[in-house]
Formats: sequence, structure tokens, C-alpha cells
Amino acid sequence: MPERPPDPALEHETNEWMKWGLLIMVVMVLIFPIYRIYEPNSRADARAVQEASLVAQGGGIYNLNCSSCHGVTGEGGIGPALNSQQFLASALDEQINSLIAVGVPGSQMSAYSLDFGGPLTSEQIEAITAFLRAWEEDAPDFPNWRDPLGLLEGTG
Ligand code: HEC
Repeated sequence: MPERPPDPALEHETNEWMKWGLLIMVVMVLIFPIYRIYEPNSRADARAVQEASLVAQGGGIYNLNCSSCHGVTGEGGIGPALNSQQFLASALDEQINSLIAVGVPGSQMSAYSLDFGGPLTSEQIEAITAFLRAWEEDAPDFPNWRDPLGLLEGTG
């Protein structure tokens, strides 16, 4: 079989295709790491947005239901100071959730969950806890958080 004579037009076309193929490959190789960098960021952003909206929702519920006893900024009053570093460091979210849900029998802290005859869903209670937790970043140093009015001082 005789060798085909070189066809400059065909060769040129093949080279063009190879050039484009190579270019597309380079573009994809470059785009992939960029995608890898931005994708987790956008997921983290979405989480931050969701967390912020939970905190905002919790703030509204707190103001209506809790601020009269615990203070608008959690500084305390009839109830303990909930913005205290010491309180926030001592309690897990789960513990705060269940305390709000169940209340403290025999005290002015009533039960807030629907299951215990209160007005709030567990989602609403979790939103409040997220709101309290958001105070932690610059929570005041207040070891005596259980007694913000100083009523128990000296009683041991
Ligand atoms: C009528 C006043 C009152 C209201 C309203 C109230 N609390 Fe309380 N809360 C108290 C008192 C008093 C205590 C302390 C109970 C005890 O331990 O004797 C307390 C305790 C707590 C504690 C536990 C602190 C600890 O000892 O670990 C948390 C958390 C808390 N309240 C959150 C809330 C939240 C959230 C709301 C709103 C949904 C709320 N409270 C509404 C009076 C109130």
C-alpha cells in the first residue's frame, strides 16, 4: 500500500483540533482547583447565614419570653445572668435546651417546651440557645451569675 501523500490541509486541521483540545484541557485543569477553593467557602457562608438567622430568631423569642427576668442583654435580674462567661462556659447547648424546656420546678423558671405545657417548640428553644451562645464571644466575667441582684450574698 503506497504511503499517502502528505495533505497539508488535513494536517493543518488536525493541528487546529489538537490545539483546541489542549486549550480546553488546560482550562479544566485550572478551573478545578478554583472550584475546590470556592465551593467549601460557599458552603461555610451558607452555614454562617443559617446560624445568623437562627440567632436572630432566637433573639426575638428571648426578648418576648425571657428578657423580663434575665435582662435584655442577659445581664440578669430576677433570674440568673445568662450572658456570664462562667455560665456559658459551664453549660452545654443540650443542657441549656433541656433546662429551658423543663424549667426549674419550685422556682420562677417555668417550663417552656410544648411537651411540658409551655409555649415553645424545640426548634424555638434551640434558637434561643443559639442566641445565648452568640453572647459567649465577648461575655462579661461574672462568676456570681446566679445572683445578679446580690440578694443571696452573705446567705452562704
Ligand atoms: C419569671 C422569670 C423568668 C422568666 C420569664 C424566665 N426565667 Fe429563666 N430563670 C429564672 C429563675 C428565677 C431562674 C433560677 C432558677 C433556680 O435555679 O432556682 C432561671 C434559670 C434559668 C436558667 C438556668 C441557669 C442555671 O442555673 O443553669 C436558664 C438557662 C434560663 N433560666 C433561661 C431562660 C430562658 C431562655 C427563658 C425564656 C424562654 C427564661 N429563662 C425565662 C426566671 C425566669
